[in-house]
Amino acid sequence: MHKDIKQVLFSEEEIYKRVVELGEQITRDYAGQELVVVSLLKGAVYFTAELTKHIDLPVRLDFLISSSYGNTTTSAGSINVTKDIDENIAGKHVLLVDDIIDTGLTLEKITNLLETRKPLSIKTAVLLDKGSRRVNEMDADYVGFEIPDEFVVGYGLDFAGDYRNLPIIGILRPSVFAKK
Ligand code: IMP
Ligand code: MG
Repeated sequence: MHKDIKQVLFSEEEIYKRVVELGEQITRDYAGQELVVVSLLKGAVYFTAELTKHIDLPVRLDFLISSSYGNTTTSAGSINVTKDIDENIAGKHVLLVDDIIDTGLTLEKITNLLETRKPLSIKTAVLLDKGSRRVNEMDADYVGFEIPDEFVVGYGLDFAGDYRNLPIIGILRPSVFAKK
């Protein structure tokens, strides 16, 4: 185990198995339709890559970068779009993909932004859900795992830009926060 990880929550195998299940569920739910997957960089990159491989439908993939977290572990509350999508989503089914839903502010704000472009539908998929921290009515349509209120890293999730490439999802040691 990585020296800065206090506890592994999900192994590579557990993550893979759950992501395959989500892909199959999405395939059934959108049967006969096309999907534009909008992935929120950078955190959702590993989840999006694995998930879309298991969606057996015509999928177009696009990316959006928004920032709300600086080098801290709590949401700043405001969202800034620094890289917008290229796809025209008017009249299309959109699946917005993020690594985690925490306060819910990111998904709420990005969903509202994409709604203004008149898609046929918008649903959301997240690998992790920290439900106890929600400040709004947002809920993801597809959730990999519910997790407790702990700061986690790996499989795309970072702390101040580090740890994204860990293949597991784990709880970061509190001593690591103190150093930054
Ligand atoms: P929300 O806007 O509070 O729902 O936060 C969503 C974003 O916060 C995610 O895209 C993550 O980048 C970040 N985030 C929230 N909790 C964690 C965590 O435990 N580890 C790493 N990033 C997190
Ligand atoms: Mg993120």
